[in-house]
Amino acid sequence: MEISRLQRRRILLGVTGSIAAYKSAELIRRLRQAGAEVQVVMTPAAARFVTPLTLQALSGRPVRRDLFDVAAEAAMGHIELARWADWILIAPASADFLARLRIGRADDLLATLCLASEAPVILVPAMNRAMWRHPATRDNVAVLEGRGVEIWGPASGAQACGEEGPGRMLEPAEIVGRLQALGKAPLLGGVKVMITAGPTREAVDPVRFLSNRSSGRMGYALAQAAREAGAEVTLVSGPVSLEPPSGVEVIRVESAQQMYRQVMARVGRCDIFIGAAAVADYTPIRPAVAKLKKDQARITLELVRTPDILAAVAAASPRPFTVGFAAETERLHEYARAKLDRKRLDMIAANRVGPGRGFETEDNALWVLWPGGERDLGRASKRELARRLIELISERYGQESRAENSG
Ligand code: PMT
Repeated sequence: MEISRLQRRRILLGVTGSIAAYKSAELIRRLRQAGAEVQVVMTPAAARFVTPLTLQALSGRPVRRDLFDVAAEAAMGHIELARWADWILIAPASADFLARLRIGRADDLLATLCLASEAPVILVPAMNRAMWRHPATRDNVAVLEGRGVEIWGPASGAQACGEEGPGRMLEPAEIVGRLQALGKAPLLGGVKVMITAGPTREAVDPVRFLSNRSSGRMGYALAQAAREAGAEVTLVSGPVSLEPPSGVEVIRVESAQQMYRQVMARVGRCDIFIGAAAVADYTPIRPAVAKLKKDQARITLELVRTPDILAAVAAASPRPFTVGFAAETERLHEYARAKLDRKRLDMIAANRVGPGRGFETEDNALWVLWPGGERDLGRASKRELARRLIELISERYGQESRAENSG
């Protein structure tokens, strides 16, 4: 018998106002049979079509309906719920819900969870055929798909309103089948990944430091993508103002020296290392113990090189599959290839940096090089690029481990 790929997967099932809400009961039953944990969240309109009690009995968990339910929030707050989900599946998804999701409303619990969660969102629409074909709905669907939301269906056929056409919610068996296909073996299941992210701060005196423009977004997106790919992730992070992805161990550091120590203490236990941090190359040789006074017109800071964390990881024995980044303002390929060779890396991801590029931005463009090959990952959001890079790393890592095992 084939093992279900939905075993212990956490599905937040959103049910919105449509006559097809009666099919949600059957959907929950099938998801539970397949081993999934199901948390139902209903909109007020959904509760007019099917009772929360029915869905609660089938899912085995209290149904959540209200953003301001004090007791439910105390048990599992909505942000916690947003982090809990492996997938957000909304079935049925009404025309109204599509429109509200498109404009980013947060005026009920389900819409708020969609905004607050980083889990993939799957919509299974159900509505009258004319509503489905209306230019406003077509437009909403296109925008949502562009943001990476999956839209499954609708099917065509006889509708509850007596009309014939597209708008029927997919059958529960088909939805569960599609989820099973999505839940295929994770790319990095059981693999230990350590990632550095963000800037470092190098103390000049007790109140001043040298740093750079890194926001940590690229490194945090990589941590999330690696986690989603099934890896056990340790994120060694410089000072940033980002929420760490759930399920990731976070080690906070400030200076390059601290980052070096924390990384080297764990390098023997990781399979893949990704250096996405913008580590300061130089640090004040002797930080002042008291705040420097501005009584001189000109001062000189003496700087010394920081330890090269990436090079030290690549030289460790045993060494993990080592991936560096190259942030360059010019001659991107040439400098990146030189860093790959000089630091003896397995792979390097090159990005152009400068005003409004690479650092701090929401999107980025990466060109990836390895000994004997290269691939353009294109321009996209950092989250999307992180997924592409993790996929490529797992491909190359898999090839190298196979070569080592056979050699
Ligand atoms: O944080 P964001 O705002 O999202 O921006 C993302 C980013 C531009 C910071 C990221 O994509 C990136 O390019 N990170 C590496 C930045 C960098 O320091 O590049 P570099 O070319 O100076 O260093 C090359 C590599 O050596 C990097 O992997 C770096 O982590 C590593 N290094 C550098 C110096 C040092 N002392 N130790 C290191 O490990």
